[in-house]
Amino acid sequence: MQNTVVDAPARALRQLRDLPGPRPWPLVGNTLQVSLHRMHQDLEAWAKQHGPLMRVHLGGFKLMVVSDAELIGQLLRERPETFRRPSRMQAIMREIGIHDGVFMAEGEAWARQRRMVMASFAPHQVRSYFPALLRVTQRLHARWLRAADPHPIDLQADLMRFTVDAIAGLAFGSEVNTLQSDDDVIQRHLDKIFPAIWRRAHALFPYWQHVKLPADRALDDSVKVVNAAIRDFISQGRQRLQDPARRAAPPNLLEAMIVAADEPDSGMTDEDVAGNVFTMLLAGEDTTATSLSWMIDLLWRHPGALARAREEVDRELGPISQWTVDDLAGLPWLEACIHESMRLKPVGPFNVVEALRDTVVADVAIRSGTPVLLLMRHDTLRDEVFPDAHAFRPERWLPEGAELSPAGAKRVSMPFGSGPRICPGRFLALLEIKLAAAMLLQSFDIAAIDTPDGRPPQEHMDLTMVPVGLRMRLRRRESLRAA
Ligand code: HEM
Repeated sequence: MQNTVVDAPARALRQLRDLPGPRPWPLVGNTLQVSLHRMHQDLEAWAKQHGPLMRVHLGGFKLMVVSDAELIGQLLRERPETFRRPSRMQAIMREIGIHDGVFMAEGEAWARQRRMVMASFAPHQVRSYFPALLRVTQRLHARWLRAADPHPIDLQADLMRFTVDAIAGLAFGSEVNTLQSDDDVIQRHLDKIFPAIWRRAHALFPYWQHVKLPADRALDDSVKVVNAAIRDFISQGRQRLQDPARRAAPPNLLEAMIVAADEPDSGMTDEDVAGNVFTMLLAGEDTTATSLSWMIDLLWRHPGALARAREEVDRELGPISQWTVDDLAGLPWLEACIHESMRLKPVGPFNVVEALRDTVVADVAIRSGTPVLLLMRHDTLRDEVFPDAHAFRPERWLPEGAELSPAGAKRVSMPFGSGPRICPGRFLALLEIKLAAAMLLQSFDIAAIDTPDGRPPQEHMDLTMVPVGLRMRLRRRESLRAA
């Protein structure tokens, strides 16, 4: 399929209203036909029925929905010129009190911030963060040793502590230790923000502008707490930068941003810096923790894959205190498990772009401002693309079982997005996932992972797609007990 068929004769083009789609109800469109927390599944089911291009009327917007992976890749690559992130999302975040960071910025501001952020997340830079990441992994190890045997672990909550500590240490040079604390930690406040954005993005009426419910007041309080923590990060960063050597070569993202903002004519303000600190905390915490939760659950449900991952870890890695970044690079089976679980359980099963001008998508003319919703999981779950697509088969990602070329598979399965706005934190995220998973496999047996209804975990959409209520019970491995 071709996008922006500028020269196509006008009569050949369809309009959004010509596309098939679920029948809208008067006034509310399709809004009441989807469930807020299972919207991705409702949309995926409609796409199966109506085809790769459809129209849906949600929350007062007429959207085009695209589920063809090749076309999705093209649209994602047409940013920032032809498409942007949805303006409604930006308005909601600003209203909540979150300044634009690289995730929400557009145009020249985005390009400037993106260059700076990319430099901090390049693979060689991520390597230099390894010792700090290993320390945080050891703290998670200690936390789980304390919990092992009698106590079930709230898997998602513990992994969020792990990812907050990791990102705060790396990106901001600040030691945030939520893993060794049960107090009022920043992670508890961050956890409120994604669900609130999700609720507001899909509300039919912005009631909170007129009356605040307890959840809205709790949200305001949480944003205040996080913004205060960010002001602290920034002021600590400024103090450290009084050292001229440090100012000449800032060792972390926060300090690099402060130095850049202090340049005359930088166009960067302290608000941009604060917006990016918030962005990194939000974008880096939930996504990585959730991807890890899904993978640990999938491994537990596939004992053969788990045993092979455990053998690999036992063979390749010594005691945790001696792990190096190169050791972690040599775990192909574990890496294949990560790709496979993100194919089945991408934390972002859809992405939304908004047309910046009148344009053409495939053979459909759309107006400036039209939101285009991209269903990222549609093709990854088609048997024609990945044989036995619903099965967890990590070998698909290795030469021994590859069904598509590695590049071909990655063009269909895009858990980190694609194009100029692809996730800049992906190398860091993969390393964090490997570290936590390898630590778990090396030190513990998973006695059980329980869900509230005893069935495989439900997918709950709250801006990211999280597994509901995973409680993990661990046993220290027998071989280690004896040691
Ligand atoms: C497994 C973990 C992660 C997943 C699945 C994930 C996924 C994504 C996705 C789907 C996007 C949108 C890409 C697009 O629109 O094409 C994105 C963007 C982004 N991610 Fe991640 N992410 C993860 C971890 C991280 C981490 C650890 C960080 C940084 C600390 C991060 C920072 C960002 C930022 C700043 C953007 C916006 C980029 C831009 O608009 O230019 N992410 N991520």
